[in-house]
Amino acid sequence: MLGILAALPEEITELLAEMGPTATVRRLGMRDYHVGVLRGQPCVLALTRIGKVAAAATTAMLLHEFRVRAVVFTGVAGGIHEQVQVGDVVIGDTLLQHDLDARPLFARYEVPMLGRTHFSTEAALTELLAHCAEDFLSAYAHGRAVAPAVRRGPIATGDCFVGDLATLTRLRAELPDALCVEMEGAAVAQVCHEFGVPCAVLRTVSDRADNSATVDFRRFLQEVASVYSAGILRRFLQALPPPAN
Ligand code: ADE
Repeated sequence: MLGILAALPEEITELLAEMGPTATVRRLGMRDYHVGVLRGQPCVLALTRIGKVAAAATTAMLLHEFRVRAVVFTGVAGGIHEQVQVGDVVIGDTLLQHDLDARPLFARYEVPMLGRTHFSTEAALTELLAHCAEDFLSAYAHGRAVAPAVRRGPIATGDCFVGDLATLTRLRAELPDALCVEMEGAAVAQVCHEFGVPCAVLRTVSDRADNSATVDFRRFLQEVASVYSAGILRRFLQALPPPAN
């Protein structure tokens, strides 16, 4: 089975609707795990809610209770790299917690007892997601003035919504390679690492993590987030090899 996670309902409404009547629901630890078939692939869909603790708890339960061969996280993010624009898609190759700092006991960003700062996504899943995102965007952007781009690179996760210039400037200086900020990805990637399950993270850029981030985020979430997630993940599910029985 494939695990599909998102933080907010708006990020996954279309896929949930598509699973529709075939789905059964298991409620565990205040989360609904929707088990069903999407585009021929057995899937479990769940909403993590917002933040690292919520995402880690949902992922741990998912991996403990369901036979999941890989996890894909989908949602929106604030673009922090100068080249990342609203409407672009970021596919994470590594994830790090930008607000983790246990110095002087451990190095900055290092996850205590794991001896690492970054968690990598799985190369083949990431490659396939990027390909599907390119394919979706070329259909979506047809006739639009500005064509969104697909970017692959580091994602920074933390327990805060970044929506002011001071924080944005600091994050850019501290993590010059990071493409976007969000609030769950590194937690999901860490739990997947601990369970030995491959993962991939897909983020659509809803805002630029600046002073207008809150307004842009809300509008994007209502109008486009679900369309992007569904458009890319439908292609992804169809391209995955059929499940082995
Ligand atoms: N998710 C979407 N936009 C975000 C932002 N600006 N900061 C953190 N998480 C986000």
